[in-house]
Amino acid sequence: MATNNWIIRTIQRCDFMLKLLVHLRKYWKLVLLSPTCMMIEVGMDLLQPLLLAAIVDKGVANGDIPFIMRTGLLMVGIAIIGMAGGMGGIMASSFAAQGFGADLRWQLFKKVQSFSFANLDELRTASLITRLTNDVTQVQQTVMMLLRAFVRAPLLSIGGLVMAISINARLALILLVTMPLLALSLWVVINKAFPLFMEVQRRVDRVNAVMRENLVGVRVIKAFVRAAKEKERFGSANESLRDITTRASRVVALQMPLMMLLMNLSIVAIIWFGGIQVNTGQMTVGEVIAFINYITQILFALMLVAWVLMAFSRAKASADRINEVLDTEALIREKPDPVVSKINKGEIVFDRVSFQYPGAGGAPVLQDISFTVSPGETVAILGGTGAGKTSLVNLIPRFFDVTQGRVLVDGVDVRDYSLKTLREGIGMVPQETILFSGSIEDNIRWGKEDATGEEIEAAAKAAQIHDFIVNLPDGYQTRLGQRGINLSGGQKQRLAIARALVAKPAVLIFDDSTSAVDTGTEACLQQSVKDYLGRCTRIIIAQKISSVMRADKIILLENGKIEGIGTHEMLLAKSPVYQDIYHSQWGQEAVVSG
Ligand code: CTP
Ligand code: MG
Repeated sequence: MATNNWIIRTIQRCDFMLKLLVHLRKYWKLVLLSPTCMMIEVGMDLLQPLLLAAIVDKGVANGDIPFIMRTGLLMVGIAIIGMAGGMGGIMASSFAAQGFGADLRWQLFKKVQSFSFANLDELRTASLITRLTNDVTQVQQTVMMLLRAFVRAPLLSIGGLVMAISINARLALILLVTMPLLALSLWVVINKAFPLFMEVQRRVDRVNAVMRENLVGVRVIKAFVRAAKEKERFGSANESLRDITTRASRVVALQMPLMMLLMNLSIVAIIWFGGIQVNTGQMTVGEVIAFINYITQILFALMLVAWVLMAFSRAKASADRINEVLDTEALIREKPDPVVSKINKGEIVFDRVSFQYPGAGGAPVLQDISFTVSPGETVAILGGTGAGKTSLVNLIPRFFDVTQGRVLVDGVDVRDYSLKTLREGIGMVPQETILFSGSIEDNIRWGKEDATGEEIEAAAKAAQIHDFIVNLPDGYQTRLGQRGINLSGGQKQRLAIARALVAKPAVLIFDDSTSAVDTGTEACLQQSVKDYLGRCTRIIIAQKISSVMRADKIILLENGKIEGIGTHEMLLAKSPVYQDIYHSQWGQEAVVSG
């Protein structure tokens, strides 16, 4: 009963692998070539003991030196053929495994590209990196092992068995005793090692997680003087990994001497019973030698199986993590027959929109939002931190889908456009500035691949960053990021603005994009952006009244609800919330820009 359960569990454990092995389909030729070569190798391996027996029985016994030479040469020839087969097998299986790994990485990469923001919130970036690199390598190695061992082990054990029986069926009865004993010992060892290896993988994950957090947050750790505490945390994760690995290795280490003991006992038994048969003339010395050889081969083949099973249990954690990514459904899907017309007017309508983050409980982040932005208008969204401003604008390029109501751009529901059309029509300067490594020019051109030098310069001028760039030693060719220069927060923001401006989309959204820019520069920037864009709809998110007072319309957001809509003067006259904000900021930015 227990054995049955174990078998079922093992099969369930293997199921994860089958799901991935589909990706091997493309390499079926190599996958077939590998066992073919292996068959040659195993066949040659199986021939050797027979020749050895012949040398002993015919050559040595009769003192026939030419026979010994001939057979010896033959053995060398066979060994060379076997080696060629072995090399072919290794090459075929490693090509197949490498191709499999590369394909898997590619599938994962494509999948991640299709993910929506909500998917990415769930599967974190750092974890995705581990899955795409480490986990794929682990599975790839197992596939290679699988291709080799799963063919070699049965071939060798069955072939060895056939040969042994053909030499002397009675002596082969010894195997009836040895094989079950061996299987039992393997079963005990694997059963003990399986759970330990699972735990090893979990603890590897844990070490990775702590390390990841520390690398990402190393500046914060320094700032808060948490290094000692973090060292302790890493140390304990590291030690617990070491402990479990040591335990697992101990169990595995037990296997080898156990095997050797069984093997040596079998050899003793063969020599004993074989010796008796040699004495009575039923068997030759050479046959006994060959027999011992075959038994050894069979036992080693079984050991190979044990190793593969262990490698399997180690690969499971990785394969599961890969499957998790592959099985994740992208939450934003395109319509099969999207609207073809491009976005050029830039009219935006929110029609009784409510929004809740996927999987989040509690009150919706946005409730019953309705407003209209006419083409060419500048609309500001004002609200405290956590009011829902970013969530609101994220609905326009469909980073998330509304829970209720609808968002229209140029009179069409955003869900009816293809994502490409929609997002090409809407430019966005996100709240968190992300630049890529490469030159400044590359980073601006990112917004429009075929932008000319003049266009890039014009966008940079409008974003108030041109003067800064030309004063750099390499100007627009200055490299950023890795081994390049680093920019201040405000400089980065303005570069991100230039990147969004260069494409001149019909709608531009600035999510708190001037938070790190001083008030004076901000006023210039607003004017220059306006001049640059001409009739383009702009949505500006801000927390400062000074950033929004010149807007055609201000939407005041509080706790996910619209508190008031109107011009600065209207809101100042009517909305108590707006008055509060105005007075709390009065005397600071309000004066400077007023
Ligand atoms: N939120 C969430 N899941 C996210 C992002 C935000 O549950 N992936 C929640 C936040 O907890 C917050 C609310 O949504 O309570 C609104 O967040 P957001 O729209 O980002 O607020 P902003 O108004 O943009 O705040 P800030 O000015 O700080 O950017
Ligand atoms: Mg925000």
